[in-house]
Amino acid sequence: MTAHRFLPSGPLTGRIRVPGDKSISHRAIMLGALAVGETRISGLLEGEDVLATAAAMRAMGAAVDRSDDGTWLVRGVGVGGLLQPAGALDMGNSGTSTRLLMGLLASHAITAVFTGDASLSRRPMGRVIDPLSEIGATFTPSPGGTLPLMMEGAETPVPITYRLPVASAQVKSAILLAGLNTPGITTVIEPVPTRDHSERMLKGFGADIEVEEVGGERHIRLRGEADLKPQTLTVPGDPSSAAFFAVAASIVPGSDLVIENVGLNPTRDGIYRVLEQMGANIERLETREVGGEPVADVRVRHASLTGIDVDPAVAPSMIDEFPVLFVAAALANGTTRTSGLEELRVKESDRLTAMADALRLIGANVEEAEDGLTIHGTGGATLPGGGPVATQLDHRIAMSMAVAGCVSENGVEVDSAEPIATSFPGFLDLLKEAAS
Ligand code: S3P
Repeated sequence: MTAHRFLPSGPLTGRIRVPGDKSISHRAIMLGALAVGETRISGLLEGEDVLATAAAMRAMGAAVDRSDDGTWLVRGVGVGGLLQPAGALDMGNSGTSTRLLMGLLASHAITAVFTGDASLSRRPMGRVIDPLSEIGATFTPSPGGTLPLMMEGAETPVPITYRLPVASAQVKSAILLAGLNTPGITTVIEPVPTRDHSERMLKGFGADIEVEEVGGERHIRLRGEADLKPQTLTVPGDPSSAAFFAVAASIVPGSDLVIENVGLNPTRDGIYRVLEQMGANIERLETREVGGEPVADVRVRHASLTGIDVDPAVAPSMIDEFPVLFVAAALANGTTRTSGLEELRVKESDRLTAMADALRLIGANVEEAEDGLTIHGTGGATLPGGGPVATQLDHRIAMSMAVAGCVSENGVEVDSAEPIATSFPGFLDLLKEAAS
């Protein structure tokens, strides 16, 4: 690990583009690998997490290649056609690869071993093991229900109806992907809506899927054993990656930045709505549709932010953006209170403790509760800075500290900037470009 210091920054200006959406990129490779024929993907995120998914699909028989113009070509094996991988599937830092692939494999009669880094090996897998066991797969996880884990897919998978006990798009998607090679109808009931990229993309690939609102809940039904048709698709820019720049431009005086081509699916855009509630100056320009997803260019100008009580109902639509929201709150006028965020404790790190410790270390005023943080902002004054902050193999802690560094007296040091490559290769250069 090499320590890295994020320096104070001048205004962020001009026009930038962030890499492709991580969630959509994983799904595009997985569904492409199950279609019969060639899927072409442009704008794919080439971060470590997505490359872990690509490597796993290759190990199970699909051809996944980058062509010289940056388009990715996936030649699929057909639903039910995945092959027994020869070695363990190394998932690196990626919870999405792990949980979605466990689902995909659960209805294939193959045995697989999943391994991951120290962060991923602490994360709970029981939430997917439970429903996938009902489908007929069997699991031998490490003590505590974690990786390394061995699974045997079902010889004769059975369709289930499953009500999600946690608001998790990964659990929903794992069940739907298992349903693809299961006879009959697999149903997921979602009391609280989570990102719906799987549903949208399954429809795009020709799956027999329908979504119905019943008494405020979403019922998602998928009929299995249908062929998927290869697609040509474009991945929009990642709203979670863009959020680091939206917050930086909001809190660095003089900023006026356009982030082009940002995916603004309503199940993902909570951070932009919450920043606006705090007084941020955000415009959505050229609103359009890319690859079945709403997209806009997002213009963000510096504004004086005010602390708010964040409605816990918004959490699923910005679940990955709380670390950087906490940085915005640390610079706001008054107090920001968050609650209902227990899920943040089982992300790439315990993001409540990691961010409370990090922000205190660089001079912010933060109280930690079991389910959220309360942050008393500086009213726009710079934070002292310092460090070194322990990023705990968590890309979003590292990038949030980069944003905090922009508004610090002395810069913010992290123990390592390497985790950033999991979701946002090129982040440091882009930040320099926007601030120069
Ligand atoms: C993701 C779902 C979310 C999110 C993760 C990506 C996905 O996780 O935090 O970064 O692509 O489905 P949960 O399903 O655990 O909420």
